Amino acid sequence: MRTFPRLLVLALVLFPATAAFADEDLARRIEASREAIKSFAGALQGQLMSAMVDGGPAAAIEACNIAAPGIAATASDAQGWRIRRTSLKLRNPDNAPDAWELSVLREFKARKAAGEDPATLDHAAFVVSEGKRTFRYMKIIGTQPVCILCHGTAIAPEVAARLDALYPDDRARGFKVGDIRGAFSIIQTSPPP
Ligand code: HEC
Repeated sequence: MRTFPRLLVLALVLFPATAAFADEDLARRIEASREAIKSFAGALQGQLMSAMVDGGPAAAIEACNIAAPGIAATASDAQGWRIRRTSLKLRNPDNAPDAWELSVLREFKARKAAGEDPATLDHAAFVVSEGKRTFRYMKIIGTQPVCILCHGTAIAPEVAARLDALYPDDRARGFKVGDIRGAFSIIQTSPPP
């Protein structure tokens, strides 16, 4: 009988410390995710721009593919993370959101509609997935002027023809500058660095 209150006291003493560690771990992972996405997005856009300069948008179509050699591997292997892109309006069905991503994409849409600045919209959480504590992070991808060449309303006929052939179920058109195009998503199952 006497041990119970002692355990309780111990738990009460330890709990705030554990919570503080968890907060610190979360903050560190969020910071690292923002950095990884910044370099990842920069590399992706650099590759897109140089492909467009070389051959125009029709020739650059593959450059918006995250599987483009090098980019995804560099960003993901660095910290043993999986990094991907997803959207509520997909071009490639392989990029379909899972249940967690879907709820965050909907939340982003609502937060933007409520007036939040899309440039800073992100969301992080620890979730339990298949019995493992997993860190998950998402950050919005906005639509810039260059993106509408392939994701806008007035897509050049030769670009549209190529997209039709490659992506028969393409829903990633009709975007305007400033719209939410989708989001980067990071999944990390490894222990804290
Ligand atoms: C030259 C044409 C082209 C341009 C320009 C372009 N994209 Fe794409 N985008 C594509 C193609 C093709 C895919 C499908 C890639 C794949 O198969 O995974 C795609 C896929 C995506 C996806 C993944 C989700 C999905 O719908 O499958 C996102 C997010 C995305 N693009 C964002 C952007 C943004 C943001 C820009 C501007 C910075 C941009 N794209 C510019 C052609 C383009």
